Amino acid sequence: MNKTISDVKKIILELSESRGVKKGHIINVVKYSLFLAKKLKADREICEIAAWLHDIDKLKGGKEGHHIRGAKDAEEILTKLKYPKDKIKKVCYCILTHSSDKNYLPKTLEAKIVASADALAHFDDFLEIVYFYYNRGLTIDETRDRILKKADKSFNKMMPYAKKLAKKRYDAIKILLK
Ligand SMILES: [Fe+2]
Ligand SMILES: [Fe+2]
Repeated sequence: MNKTISDVKKIILELSESRGVKKGHIINVVKYSLFLAKKLKADREICEIAAWLHDIDKLKGGKEGHHIRGAKDAEEILTKLKYPKDKIKKVCYCILTHSSDKNYLPKTLEAKIVASADALAHFDDFLEIVYFYYNRGLTIDETRDRILKKADKSFNKMMPYAKKLAKKRYDAIKILLK
């Protein structure tokens, strides 16, 4: 494994461990990023590093604007690791544009892949998402509403190939919850 990838992986796994945050989502985003990058002949290294780092601000407890702060954190980390500047720019762009923010929509293939992988992973985390909303004290109706909105948001931000992979689960959620 490339040294920067193993360093970044170590940083993220240690951070999730120390904060007591589950790492399953990040690992799934890495898995889907690599799968899509291979399939669509994108830069696998950029996609993998961005996937490991994409929610770094959330791991630190951030919510609103985590894609903006996360891109800045990633830039700092990768600069310290002496990763080439041109590649840092590409990785940070993927992080900045992964989060359905209309001001920062993904335009490069790698950024579209990371955003799609993030969305695909949300369909793997279905029960965790239910548990998360329900535990925030929302009623069953509110939980249902949030999950349907999240499923729509995730599905809509995917590139066409990723939509094909998620379609059955997206339809199943709608059948179950509507
Ligand atoms: Fe995110
Ligand atoms: Fe994410």
